[in-house]
Amino acid sequence: EKANLALLLDRYKDRFTTLPNEKGWMSQTLYMYQGFWYPSENTFSIETTMALQDTFQALSTDIYLATQPKSGTTWIKALVFAIVNRIRYNYDTTSTHPLLISNPHKCVPFIETEILSKTPTYDYAKAPRLFATHIPYTSLPQSILDAGCRIVYMCRNPKDVLVSWFHFANKLSDKTRSQMTIDEMFEVYSKGLMPYGPYWNHVKEYHKVSSEHPTRILFLTYEDMKIDTANKVKRLAEFLGYPFTEEEEAKGTVEEIVKLCSFENLKEVNKNGDFREGIPNDTFFRAGKVGGWSSDLTTEMSQILDDIWIFHSNQVPVTN
Ligand code: A3P
Repeated sequence: EKANLALLLDRYKDRFTTLPNEKGWMSQTLYMYQGFWYPSENTFSIETTMALQDTFQALSTDIYLATQPKSGTTWIKALVFAIVNRIRYNYDTTSTHPLLISNPHKCVPFIETEILSKTPTYDYAKAPRLFATHIPYTSLPQSILDAGCRIVYMCRNPKDVLVSWFHFANKLSDKTRSQMTIDEMFEVYSKGLMPYGPYWNHVKEYHKVSSEHPTRILFLTYEDMKIDTANKVKRLAEFLGYPFTEEEEAKGTVEEIVKLCSFENLKEVNKNGDFREGIPNDTFFRAGKVGGWSSDLTTEMSQILDDIWIFHSNQVPVTN
């Protein structure tokens, strides 16, 4: 993967090092490309985005899960995987359902990691292929749009996203870097200087396209999913073309999927081991709450973020 990243860096650096750049999250240099900020030299970077735009081939049967990091990507991956594969696997605890033995990120890969992988783990012969991405709508590889693929977008209230990022970064920080303070985090986040930021523009774009093309893009919020998971799972299944039959509903399949993909269950399954080197499986499961931001953000920070949201994304129904 490192070698492939180096190749992409070499191929694209002349194109992006001349773009506007700023120091942002974790003191990284971020480049402004097609209206969004990207770091370089990692999986979720400007060079992987450019390479995907140049080379990625979508199939019309593909399903894409689009999110900003920390908005519930792991959860939506698990739910969609469980819905689409529900005939293939059983949900009883003795079964070898992939979600009972591995990380949801292993079940649904990011296109950003696939492009770097020498040996993609994904079974390309299978339809539908399930992929995730953090790429903003404007910058999606054209073939995804041309093929008319279904896209599920999951968004989350920006304050919980900020706080989730904050804990995630500090948990992963190694000894070479000091822990980030919430003030530092707030400073960069509120300026939009985050990978794939500004957050509000990412959400706004997908929300707009989803309201224009509701059969192609389903817009979900983490908060609605929490309040009424079963009904949202049914809606998701219909959108994906995998509606539950009356018989399935009667025997409780929807509830089984909700339970299988619940925060508590996935946290337990992923309490040990590493997802990748330096990234323990449990990093993706912290608190899983709505409104948990209030223990980390000051009232003033909250007010500023509310104002930014109202200014940029008032149309988007996100519960703060
Ligand atoms: P917190 O840090 O607020 O707990 P992502 O998957 O996009 O990286 O987002 C991570 C956030 O989703 C974390 O939020 C994590 O705890 C939460 N999360 C992970 N799995 C979840 C699940 N099954 N249900 C609800 N929230 C989940």
